[in-house]
Amino acid sequence: LTLIIALDPPTGVDPVEWCRSIFERTRDIATGFKIGLPAIVEAGASRIGEVFRGFDGLVIADLKLADIGDIMALTVEKLARCGFNAVIAHAFVGYERGLSTLSEKCRELGVKLVAVVSMSHPGSVEVMDGVVEKLISVVERARCWGVVAPATRPEMVRFVRSRLSWVKILSPGVGAQGARPGDALCAGADYEIVGRAITRSSDPREAARRVVEEQRRALERCRA
Ligand code: XMP
Repeated sequence: LTLIIALDPPTGVDPVEWCRSIFERTRDIATGFKIGLPAIVEAGASRIGEVFRGFDGLVIADLKLADIGDIMALTVEKLARCGFNAVIAHAFVGYERGLSTLSEKCRELGVKLVAVVSMSHPGSVEVMDGVVEKLISVVERARCWGVVAPATRPEMVRFVRSRLSWVKILSPGVGAQGARPGDALCAGADYEIVGRAITRSSDPREAARRVVEEQRRALERCRA
């Protein structure tokens, strides 16, 4: 399975029911779900975590943590108690008493640590992409389980893959931000993260099925 569904409920819906409804309709098609700040801020991590109880795939808290190590570690302890088994943090906080502390805590809790090294929006080239080598070296030192790299710039995915053969690459930017299903997988990503193209569709299950089918066809083409 190569699909992670991003759950970012719009304003004006019950965030828990909205997440539950999409989760129940797509749980057998997706490797996991990524829940971002809009849901967690409104409903709280524990109510959102409840939705995924019993699911054995990835339940990723996308808080893009960027604090000192001790506070990120404290945050991840609370997330783990709410049922999250993966967390996204920024690599730019550095290793020493930053990702090193977080990484140790994640290992202790059995939570997968995913670090952001480049982002899918155009502003990523203004700062982050210029220091991507350094961000990759932080990921390497912290032995992160995964990294986030943008499907909108497959050359960046290819670059990260060339530097880190063992890391899982999670790529957002498919659909609403313009990348096509399979673009990032063909560049070396392990999973594509798709949000609105699935969650805002009138039939999320069918939309997710179509994404997976397109991924499969793209992989066939690029491997041929
Ligand atoms: P859409 O609706 O655009 O949702 O398919 C994409 C999801 O992915 C998140 N996102 C990112 N997360 N680095 C990240 O860590 C990125 O470069 C990035 N780009 C998009 C976004 O928050 C949404 O949940």
